[in-house]
Amino acid sequence: MALLKLENVTKRFGGLVAVDKVSLEIQPGELIGIVGPNGSGKTTLFNVISGVYYPEAGRVIFDGKDITRLPAHKRAPLGLGRTFQIPRPFSSASVRENVAIGAMFGTLADKVTVDESLEIADRYIDMVGLKAHTDKAAGTLTPVEKKLMEIARALAMRPKLLLMDEAMAGMNPKDIDDMVQFIKRIKEEEKIAIVSMVEHIMRAVAGLAERVMVMNQGAKLVDAKTEEALTDPRVVEVYLGHPTDASKWRSQVWKNGKDSDE
Ligand SMILES: Nc1ncnc2c1ncn2[C@@H]1O[C@H](COP(=O)(O)OP(=O)(O)OP(=O)(O)O)[C@@H](O)[C@H]1O
Ligand SMILES: [Mg+2]
Repeated sequence: MALLKLENVTKRFGGLVAVDKVSLEIQPGELIGIVGPNGSGKTTLFNVISGVYYPEAGRVIFDGKDITRLPAHKRAPLGLGRTFQIPRPFSSASVRENVAIGAMFGTLADKVTVDESLEIADRYIDMVGLKAHTDKAAGTLTPVEKKLMEIARALAMRPKLLLMDEAMAGMNPKDIDDMVQFIKRIKEEEKIAIVSMVEHIMRAVAGLAERVMVMNQGAKLVDAKTEEALTDPRVVEVYLGHPTDASKWRSQVWKNGKDSDE
């Protein structure tokens, strides 16, 4: 059984169709990337899955349950964890407290004491490499560290599916490579499914995802194994605005590791 199933999901903003009849299945333990140009509907789809918006049409099924109209805060206890495109920490609270909040509102909600939540927090702070910052105010972290803290908080929810929005936006190539390795490690160690919205950073998508869904103008353009999806002529055209030689594109994405929008 699919862990997450989207059936013909449509989300409109006034006359604009931000997500257009998207169907998608994600299996337990799968690592899938969702990419697409600016405004193609990635974040909106993400928000429909996490319950920030309800779709006008279609269904969202998680772990066998219809959650299409379930409020966002009731999704986390079912095992749907998320990060935000722009991390929103409680700035004056410590890193440890911020991460512990994840444990208190995730699948372990009502099952853990405050002390246990703090212990869980320590485990994930260690995992993301922020041990030295545990007691610092979250507001003092660098943007990359905030991103890592955000991931630790989402992991402390002990999700079955982790949704990551733009986990690598604004990072330099070295940080991106580290993050890619890190996300793969999380997937293996935590045995969870991960959906990562990866913006235009083709290098990251290529190195990270097993499967990729490419969105364009709200709709699903391609859903295939990563290499097949990223070399699909329709995808190349959407990204470059014109068709190009497949081998040229391939070397741009894989060998040089250049971002496609450079
Ligand atoms: N709250 C909103 N109200 C009105 N229109 C919106 C809203 N959120 C998104 N949109 C519109 O919906 C479309 C899809 O936007 P969305 O943010 O989902 O795209 P995206 O693929 O995440 O883009 P980006 O790569 O820039 O993050 C865009 O045309 C956007 O302007
Ligand atoms: Mg977005």
